[in-house]
Amino acid sequence: MKVANVVQEYWNKEGARLYDKIHYINKDKFKNTLLNYLDVEKDCIILDFGTGTGFLASILAELGYKRIIGLDINEYMLLRAKQKLSGFPVMLVRGDGLNLPLKDNSVDAVVSRWVLWVMPDPERAIKEMIRVTKPGGKVITFESSNYDDKEKRLTLKKLVKQLHTVYITLLTGASPFRTKRFWEKTKGKLPMYSLDRYVQFFEQLGLKAVEKTAEEEYGTTFARLFYEGFKFSLIKGVKPNLVSHVLNLECKEWGENELLRILACSECYSNVRIMEGNGLVCEGCKKTFLIKGGIPDLLPAEDKLL
Ligand SMILES: C[S@@+](CC[C@H](N)C(=O)[O-])C[C@H]1O[C@@H](n2cnc3c(N)ncnc32)[C@H](O)[C@@H]1O
Ligand SMILES: [Zn+2]
Repeated sequence: MKVANVVQEYWNKEGARLYDKIHYINKDKFKNTLLNYLDVEKDCIILDFGTGTGFLASILAELGYKRIIGLDINEYMLLRAKQKLSGFPVMLVRGDGLNLPLKDNSVDAVVSRWVLWVMPDPERAIKEMIRVTKPGGKVITFESSNYDDKEKRLTLKKLVKQLHTVYITLLTGASPFRTKRFWEKTKGKLPMYSLDRYVQFFEQLGLKAVEKTAEEEYGTTFARLFYEGFKFSLIKGVKPNLVSHVLNLECKEWGENELLRILACSECYSNVRIMEGNGLVCEGCKKTFLIKGGIPDLLPAEDKLL
């Protein structure tokens, strides 16, 4: 089974509901860190890569950013994001982070949290982030090394976490075996690199001014006391200002029309336009894409997914 499909299964309808309930995160701390490192104009276009239920997208909106794209491969996560983000200037797109349905040099910054670990090819994901970023734009990712749980002993915190997860699992109707299945099905397929390896990729792939913050606790007091906490590090790089071609966006309004100028066919990267009826069509290869629940679905063909 492809990781792309395991990811859909893991965060299915119940899994997506559970996702927001078991993460006790200090949102303000993320907000402050992001504001410090992002430091771009409020009308810049920012892509939240692997937005999930829209955590970073909502932070960006609360910070006053006016043009946000939330992209994820998982329709259930996106549907939850849609509920949470209604009224915010966030355009949601379903697409594969390893085949981003966006034009080269089309966004001012890419932000991402907790996504690279679940990618079978994180280097390609970073390449894609860089490709769609305008020269001079920023690529920022929050990653954690928490998943690499070296402590095998059952500690009190672990026990509390497990009991709590069982409780929430029952409450949300998610399968109690979902995590076990996830690890079984992704076995040997997720490289889960260290934070330093991500930094190396940023540098090797041409980003400048690469920085990594020390891993810090972003969990709430509850998470710190009764959970293992949520440690994150921010990694940032700037795309060098060498390329001359920058997509020129003249639209003043942030909405469907402006998004359409940025979107690209995930098969051939040509323009896509609205079809009669409901959907998008590629002007190059003529592939059609559905719009489901108001969210355009630009996933590539199954054989392109990893
Ligand atoms: C742990 S969640 C993080 C979600 C969100 N960024 C957050 O901070 O809460 C990982 C997310 O990555 C998404 N994802 C995994 N593989 C992906 C891919 N190939 N393309 C796009 N999104 C992907 C999953 O669907 C999921 O929503
Ligand atoms: Zn096409």
